[in-house]
Amino acid sequence: MSRPELPPKRVSESAINDFPHPIFPHHLNYLSTLFGGVPLAKADEIAGEVAQRHTDQICVTKYVTAEFFAPGYQGEILIFKAAVNRTWRTSLEIGVKVLAIDRSKKTTRHIVSLYFILVAETKDGNGKIHLSRIPQVISETDEEKRRYEEAEVRRQMLRKSSL
Ligand SMILES: CC(C)(COP(=O)(O)OP(=O)(O)OC[C@H]1O[C@@H](n2cnc3c(N)ncnc32)[C@H](O)[C@@H]1OP(=O)(O)O)[C@@H](O)C(=O)NCCC(=O)NCCS
Repeated sequence: MSRPELPPKRVSESAINDFPHPIFPHHLNYLSTLFGGVPLAKADEIAGEVAQRHTDQICVTKYVTAEFFAPGYQGEILIFKAAVNRTWRTSLEIGVKVLAIDRSKKTTRHIVSLYFILVAETKDGNGKIHLSRIPQVISETDEEKRRYEEAEVRRQMLRKSSL
């Protein structure tokens, strides 16, 4: 659906910096470490929230890639950090970094990083769904600029691998 150019938004306008999620017994696998689906599902919800804050539209997940770096343990708190890395015409990449904090040992570990490509949708007057143009993102800090460049490299790789 053709829409006028939307005003761009800063990364900081939609970012989520420290969403907490405790690791309880029912989040563990047979090895008594965190079941990977737990951070995956929560990260998907959080990525959707960041995408919708940025676009003010319904966004659906098209691709997800994840790399697990370390196990999580019962009693730790997962901290989710999520931000828009890059925008294209109707799609955007949200990066989600998940840390595990053990307050008694005063340690913080990087558990998993995930990259979501979401696509914005709108319904027309007949209830038909169309892909929708989104506001472009303004990357301000060095880290935001680095993530902006890296997102394009990931997109090119995804495109090659999904041919
Ligand atoms: C998301 C969906 C609406 C996209 O519809 P579509 O007609 O297939 O549209 P396309 O995939 O061709 O294009 C949509 C965007 O994805 C991008 N895209 C397509 N293939 C891509 C790839 N391999 N890598 C990166 N981006 C890609 C396109 O470039 C486009 O973005 P742009 O306009 O910003 O350039 C549709 O695939 C869908 O409904 N998927 C299911 C979504 C869902 O239910 N998610 C929840 C999971 S349970």
